[in-house]
Amino acid sequence: MRCISKIHEWNLQNQRVFVRADLNIPLLNGMILDDHRLYGILPTLNLIAQKGGKIILATHIGRPKKPTEKLTSKILIPWFQERGFAIDFASTPQQAYEKSKEKNDTIVLLENLRFFPGEKRKEEEFAQQLAATADYYVDDAFAALHRDDASIALLPTFFEPKKRSIGLLVAHELQLLTPLKKPVKPFVLIVGGGKVADKLPLLEGFLDSVSTILMCPAFVFSFMKVEGKEVGKSLVYSEAASLIKDFLAKAKKKNVKIIFPKDYMVASGSIDGPLSRVKANAIPKDGFGITIGPETVKEFAPHIRNAQTILYNCAMGFFSRPETLEGTEKLLKLVGLSKAYTVIAGGESVAATNYFGLQKKMNYLTTGGGAVLTYLAGKDLPGLEVLCENP
Ligand code: 3PG
Repeated sequence: MRCISKIHEWNLQNQRVFVRADLNIPLLNGMILDDHRLYGILPTLNLIAQKGGKIILATHIGRPKKPTEKLTSKILIPWFQERGFAIDFASTPQQAYEKSKEKNDTIVLLENLRFFPGEKRKEEEFAQQLAATADYYVDDAFAALHRDDASIALLPTFFEPKKRSIGLLVAHELQLLTPLKKPVKPFVLIVGGGKVADKLPLLEGFLDSVSTILMCPAFVFSFMKVEGKEVGKSLVYSEAASLIKDFLAKAKKKNVKIIFPKDYMVASGSIDGPLSRVKANAIPKDGFGITIGPETVKEFAPHIRNAQTILYNCAMGFFSRPETLEGTEKLLKLVGLSKAYTVIAGGESVAATNYFGLQKKMNYLTTGGGAVLTYLAGKDLPGLEVLCENP
């Protein structure tokens, strides 16, 4: 698939450009915890602005069931203003359309796309309303390319092929992920964190390339449950039982090593409850598995040291409770010390890498999480299918 950004070729003087970004940033008490995704979009915004284009900027934030002040895209405005951007807010596509006609360099930021039911339902009418706001379309939402949503998979079809394109971030990300498409072995995948239902079906796609999978919370609890082990109140995706059994059988056939934690840090009673270390076979019935324990770090260390390629997608613990981030810090330090080509994927994994000041130790912090797993697992990305050419 040929995927290049066409923005350089466009004459955008007095033209309106719809930029679909992924500014779904990790938040802590309403504050932006990590702005990696915000910095990621700047090259595209700056290029369009230099070419005289008027930007209509849109993103989703979180997974809201209905509009909520906590997830309004207004929370992004101060960040842009502090960096010298003039930015105006539009609460609906209609308002964005009105504001798109103003002849100035103010960016029009649309409300969280997921506040509109048409986004997830991929509704034609909603896509049409968005299309009316612009003359050109750019998808720079690398982290959301795997979503079959209106603004990603349908909206671009309302623009002529020569007036729609991937953005600079997407082009850059695809290039930097190339070493993981044909990874030098041993290739170690460190997988954990939430969104278990999203990630599990993708794992099979790694079985031909990966040498070892290091399983972390919360991901690992679904596997333990299938094996009949006690996981207390830890997060489990119960629908996946047959998928997991099938996956484990295939992994065995392909000689992929799967390493489980030896111990966990468990909160008792509730996820805010007191933390204690337990052996993997001794999780209490009222325990919530939060992160890995020190024995697991020792167990994982030689695999990380010997790796030639590492993909880390493993958010464990809570930023609101720094003591739960110890396992994450230790694992990330090991990854940072390894000689492997190291890619950190996922909003919270990247946030943790930045939080511990380890970003320079890694080869690359991608803005994608699920999108990276989907891409590397060899599955279609609706956002790319619609914009890139099949030679
Ligand atoms: C992400 O954080 O992985 C992307 O923003 C996609 O979000 P989603 O999983 O809620 O679609």
